[in-house]
Amino acid sequence: MYHKDFISIHDLSPATMGHLLEVALKVKASPEKYEDALVNHTMAMIFEKPSLRTRVSFEAGMTQLGGHAIYLGPNDISLGKRESVPDIARTLDRMVDLIMARTFSHGSILQLAQFADIPVINGLSDLLHPCQAVADFQTILEKKGELKGLTLAFVGDGNNVAHSLMFAGAKTGVNVRILCPEGFDPKPEMLALARDDARETGATMTVTHDLKEGVSGADVIYTDVWASMGQEAEAEKRKAIFRPYQVNAALMAMAKEDAIFMHCLPAHRGEEVTDEVIESWQSVVFDEAENRLHAQKAIILSLMLEGDVE
Ligand code: CP
Ligand code: NVA
Repeated sequence: MYHKDFISIHDLSPATMGHLLEVALKVKASPEKYEDALVNHTMAMIFEKPSLRTRVSFEAGMTQLGGHAIYLGPNDISLGKRESVPDIARTLDRMVDLIMARTFSHGSILQLAQFADIPVINGLSDLLHPCQAVADFQTILEKKGELKGLTLAFVGDGNNVAHSLMFAGAKTGVNVRILCPEGFDPKPEMLALARDDARETGATMTVTHDLKEGVSGADVIYTDVWASMGQEAEAEKRKAIFRPYQVNAALMAMAKEDAIFMHCLPAHRGEEVTDEVIESWQSVVFDEAENRLHAQKAIILSLMLEGDVE
């Protein structure tokens, strides 16, 4: 991939993003081809927040590539409390081959990457969730056959997932609309960067608070929790604000007839999405979850192997 780290999709060229998606499809189709790729390689997985998908897919992914992963939870290393981030980075650098980190502050991921010579993968920060977006775009590609020209409507909080989806859209030519309550727009600097990236592919990046404008004609309806990890204290207040933006059958009916429904999971049924929609034929949420495994194996291989992954 010709990058040391995988921190944001913004850092990839459209060609590199396209290649990553191709590798993800190949890894999924022929996992046996890569089963000895990382024998004797170890990944350290730092988690400041809970996880099901990210932890299991990275750990299983490393095993399937012939390597090994070590889980370092919040009580193990207490990032920045028991020990500073630069000291953790320089210690792990001497022992393992790769670091994956899920943090609150995005700055912690950047600092790990700065102080470790080995690759660092962003497994979610308050700002971005790039591994999720690669798996999501692999899923869209599988379901729709091509990406360029499609429209994805993200309904909910302009959060880490929304930011990474904008960058993925910008790099692949997928128009991204963020439909959110006022005051919950994506960060202006992320929107500006994504718009700048999108000039190369012609994709549009828009923000609206109007349901119809956000959803009509969309090929993909995507939502996420209203209160992200770390925002638990705001959860009750947010419920009232976000209620009109629930993805339910009426909202899905405003999108294209063959629109798919996506959610990074975990889902709060009855809040951001109804049971009816997440269990419907349009829902691809478990394909997305599965693709975390394949997409992240592709990311790991691209960082660890010299040259293009075949
Ligand atoms: N979608 C996602 O990242 O799930 P986890 O929080 O369970 O890892
Ligand atoms: N926006 C959510 C995503 C969880 C995978 C969060 O940060 O909690």
